[in-house]
Amino acid sequence: MTTLIKNGTAYVDGAFVKKDILIEDKLITRIEDKINEPAEKVIDAKGMHVFPGFVDIHVHLRDPGQTYKEDIVSGTRSAARGGFTSLCAMPNTDPVVDNIATVDYIQRRAKDLGSAKVYVIGAMTKKSEGLEISEMATMKSDGIVAVSDDGKCVQNAKLMLNCMRYATNFGLPLIVHAEDYNLSGSGQIHAGKIALKLGLTGIPALAEEVIISRDIMLAENTGSRLHIAHISTARSIELVREAKQLGFNITCEVTPHHLILTEDACLGFDTNTKMKPPLRTEADRQACVQALKDGIIDCIATDHAPHADFEKVREFDHAPFGVIGLETAFPALYHHLVKPGHISLERIVDALTSVPASLLDLPPSALKIGYPADICLVDLNQETSFEPEEIASKSKNTPWLNQKLSGKVIYTILDGRITWEAI
Ligand code: DOR
Ligand code: ZN
Repeated sequence: MTTLIKNGTAYVDGAFVKKDILIEDKLITRIEDKINEPAEKVIDAKGMHVFPGFVDIHVHLRDPGQTYKEDIVSGTRSAARGGFTSLCAMPNTDPVVDNIATVDYIQRRAKDLGSAKVYVIGAMTKKSEGLEISEMATMKSDGIVAVSDDGKCVQNAKLMLNCMRYATNFGLPLIVHAEDYNLSGSGQIHAGKIALKLGLTGIPALAEEVIISRDIMLAENTGSRLHIAHISTARSIELVREAKQLGFNITCEVTPHHLILTEDACLGFDTNTKMKPPLRTEADRQACVQALKDGIIDCIATDHAPHADFEKVREFDHAPFGVIGLETAFPALYHHLVKPGHISLERIVDALTSVPASLLDLPPSALKIGYPADICLVDLNQETSFEPEEIASKSKNTPWLNQKLSGKVIYTILDGRITWEAI
């Protein structure tokens, strides 16, 4: 199969250039000013931007075990609608991904039925209970790309130290969901002015910061590769900045929602604004944007966390934490940050492609000759709307539900095959 993408503005070697791109079978074979060779499929990308396929290193596919929320087919289709071609699946499924049988199951199903490449993250502790180290070694030989107890956090510092020693032996990065349970308690939203106003229990910034500070020290001691998931406070960012300056191997990600929204979004008791870590203050949000620009925050990850309506449409205190993010990621970032001039399109694309891939040693995502044809085409002048029936995910729990955002993914191409075509 040959596909020719003509007349688009392509992101090649860090710059936007007018180029035609030829795909033969699974690979990009030519990138030139004008290609006039006949191809089986010709896409006229006039007016569109051509990006490398997006890479999300933090996705909850809910498969196995919670497939009423999402499964590998719907989750990767949601990825394709969002322009993503690769994702890393978090292990907090049922059963937890702490053994090779479950790793195999996800890899096989994704390969057979998926609309995106799925890399598996294994649990750091058995059943992610924070009591005993998981079988990291066998899972590593089966292809996991990192370990994490995301959604949960190992509270015992001695066990965390041992997890770091063990993971580091096998060259596995550790992804940490930083939350001290005694400090977060039964908190629902950020412990700040909105929690006070609404009478909701707060989750203090400290609950995140003390664990980041602990884990940086443990990583220094063990020489581990530590990646901090969904960073959300200004102080956390300062801790990471200092650790990077000292030369430690610490990286971190931020979600689109923490870059765009604040605790104010919770004023209407919309449970689609409830997630962990919670939406923070405007000062925290601005610190996240600045740190993403500076490179202190390395990349963007969605923390796509599907939950069904019957779980989310209920009293705030009883709704689960989490929002979907694959489909809204690029339009929300473009609409709220790039279009108003707060951050460059180049930085957003890097933070969604080459950087996250490099953090977990995934194959690079770039428009280069000889690379897999993982590509997305976006029209920045069209809008994407998020009516429930348009959302590809099985779950509809997004803070941008029923809204329209600028920027629309028109095509997503995975290994030369079209996985998404907007109508
Ligand atoms: O809000 C969240 N939901 N944060 C997490 O860390 C886990 C996730 C989930 O699995 O629902
Ligand atoms: Zn998560």
